[in-house]
Amino acid sequence: MKNITIAIDGFSSTGKSTIAKELATKLKYVYVDSGAMYRAVTLYAMQHNLISEEFFLKERLIDELDNIKLAFMFNPDLGFGEIYLNDVNVETEIRNMKVSRLVSKVAEIPEIRKKLVEQQQQMGINKSVVMDGRDIGTVVFPDAELKIFMTASAEKRAKRRFDEFVERGEQVTFDETLKNVEYRDHIDTSRKDSPLVKAKDAIEIDNSTLTRKEQFEKVYKLALEIIESN
Ligand code: DC
Repeated sequence: MKNITIAIDGFSSTGKSTIAKELATKLKYVYVDSGAMYRAVTLYAMQHNLISEEFFLKERLIDELDNIKLAFMFNPDLGFGEIYLNDVNVETEIRNMKVSRLVSKVAEIPEIRKKLVEQQQQMGINKSVVMDGRDIGTVVFPDAELKIFMTASAEKRAKRRFDEFVERGEQVTFDETLKNVEYRDHIDTSRKDSPLVKAKDAIEIDNSTLTRKEQFEKVYKLALEIIESN
């Protein structure tokens, strides 16, 4: 049995993290949600009045990067690591609509990407990791043994996100959620540094029509084939 690196990239709300978490649990691998790291940096910028809908003090945020400490701590009840920003658990806070609206601006900045990519590469240094994001198979782990690229229609993804907001009691409309999904798709695919693209050797899974169980089985089978091969 080999230890491998599994990169799962794709558009927002394609269910990447659900599959990645399940896969990591089943294989006893570490799961890393790289999007949570961009979200936590965004939350830091919000807390320090460096970003809002109206302004973005980019240079100040870059200057403060060394003050931003990110860590994942395993929560046995949930079965995955929750993200801590300067020793505070921000796992729930980083998922709100405000962070979702601002995060793409933060994720465009090369200095921030460089720092987070280095941390992500450290987390995967011993392999046995499942990481999801936008540039994992292209930039973070270009040599990952298994690369998955997940897609689904914008409507389907917005519905998934909207249901999560409703469950948490957030006051947002479906239209607003759909607009946010489309806006992030646009920024994520058109930014200069590490845009969201499918790696040449990634396997594409369109989950518009697959159930969660079907998706998981497909990815798990692909992983086992590689792990058990010589
Ligand atoms: O996966 P997510 O929706 O939580 O990601 C939040 C944002 O972070 C998303 O708009 C794009 C950005 N991101 C990125 O640029 N690179 C990654 N590896 C992960 C996320």
